Amino acid sequence: SAQLDNQAISILKENDLGGYTIPTKGLYPYQWNWDSAFVALGFATFNMNRAWEEIELLFEGQWDDGMVPHIIFRKDDPSYFPGPSVWGTTNPKIPTSGHSQPPVAATVVRRLFEQDTSAAGKEKIKSLFPKLLAWHRWYHTYRDPEGHGVIAIMHPWESGRDNLPDWDNAASHVDISDIGEYTRKDTSHVNPEMRPKKIDYDRYLAIVKFGRDNNWDPKIVAEQCPFFVADPGNTFILLRADRDLLAMAEALGETEAAEELKGWIALTEKGIAKLWNEEKQAFVTYDLRNDVLGDGISSASFLAPYAGIREEKYINPTREHFDRIAAKVNYTMPSYDPDHPLFESMRYWRGPVWGIINYLIATGFAELGDTARAERLRTDTVALIEKSDFAEYFDPITGEGAGGNSFSWTSAIWLTWAT
Ligand code: DGY
Repeated sequence: SAQLDNQAISILKENDLGGYTIPTKGLYPYQWNWDSAFVALGFATFNMNRAWEEIELLFEGQWDDGMVPHIIFRKDDPSYFPGPSVWGTTNPKIPTSGHSQPPVAATVVRRLFEQDTSAAGKEKIKSLFPKLLAWHRWYHTYRDPEGHGVIAIMHPWESGRDNLPDWDNAASHVDISDIGEYTRKDTSHVNPEMRPKKIDYDRYLAIVKFGRDNNWDPKIVAEQCPFFVADPGNTFILLRADRDLLAMAEALGETEAAEELKGWIALTEKGIAKLWNEEKQAFVTYDLRNDVLGDGISSASFLAPYAGIREEKYINPTREHFDRIAAKVNYTMPSYDPDHPLFESMRYWRGPVWGIINYLIATGFAELGDTARAERLRTDTVALIEKSDFAEYFDPITGEGAGGNSFSWTSAIWLTWAT
C-alpha cells in the first residue's frame, strides 16, 4: 500500500546517517555489511545515487587483504557492545570489526547496474568491480583454505545467522575461561527472550578475543580458530555472487577475472556435496574443525536454487522440505526447522522469519520457474509487514514482530520486492 511504501521510505531516511544507513537506532548504531547491501536495493527504488553511495561507503571499510568487515564503526556509540575497542582491529582506514558477513553485495551491484543504464552507472561498477573481486578472492582463499569448495565462518556473526542451533556444538568447543567481565547492551534494547543467550555471548567474545590476539590474521584464523564451520548460507550466497560478478566481468571485458570466477564457481558447484546430509536430504553445516556434519535444516538449506543449483537430487528434496515446513507454520520461512527440538519461534535465528532471507529464497524459486513457492514467500512477507510493521524479524506462527523495530532491511525488502 502507498502508506506502507511511505513508511518504508521514511524509515530508510531516518536511519540514514549521511551516505550510510544503520539497521535500526539503539540496537545497531553502525553500518552493517549485508544490511547495507539490502538497503541499497531499497534506495534504488527512489534514489539511485543514494543506492550506489551506500555500497561505496561500505567498501570504504575494506581491508588491504580484500576482506569487507561486518561492521564499520564510523564513530563510537556507547549503545552498542562489542564496540571498536573490543575488536582491536588495526586496519588503518576506519575502525571496523574483524571478520566479514554474507557477501550479497555483488548480487546487489549487478541489479543496480542493470537498473542504472546511465554513464555514471558504468563508472560506478568499474570502480566497484575490482573491490568485489578482491573480497570474493579473500573468501575463497581464507575461508576455504583447503579448497573444498565450501565457505567456512570463523564466528557465528560471520554467517549473519548468529545463534542458529547448528553452531551450538561447534561453539561448545570454544574455551570461554578467559573472557573476563562484560556487559551486554543488546538486552537493554530488546526483550532478552528474543536475543541470543549468555552462553552464546560468552563464546562470541572468546572467538573475538582469539581474533584480536592474532591480529585478525586470516591465515592464522584458517589454521587455528577454535570455531571454523562451513556454512550453506555463506557458501550459496557467495556462489550466487560469483555468478553475478562473472556476468559483470563479461560486460566489462575483464577476461582474466572471468576465468578466475569460473574456477571458483566450478569448485563450489562440486563442493556443496560436502554439505549434503543424505539422511536428512538437505544442505546442512559442516564443522571443519571437528569434522562433524550437521543435521539441522535452516532457512539457508533453501538457498540452493538461489545459488543456481539445478540438480534434481538436490532440488526435489528441497521442495519437499519447503512444503513440509510451509504446512506447519502460518508464515514461511522460519529460520529453523519447526520440527526440530531446538526451534524457538521468537528467538532471533532459532525460528523467526526474516524478510531478507525470504527474498533470497524466493528469488531462487522464481528463477526455477517455481512461482507458487516464490509467491508463498512473498505474500507471507507482505502479510507479516502489514500485521506487525517493519520489525527486525517475525514469529512464524503468530506473525508477531520481534527484535528491533523501524528496521532498515525490512523496509528495503518491502520496497524492492514485497510491495
Ligand atoms: C549483533 O550485535 O547482534 C549482531 O548481529 C552482530 O553482528
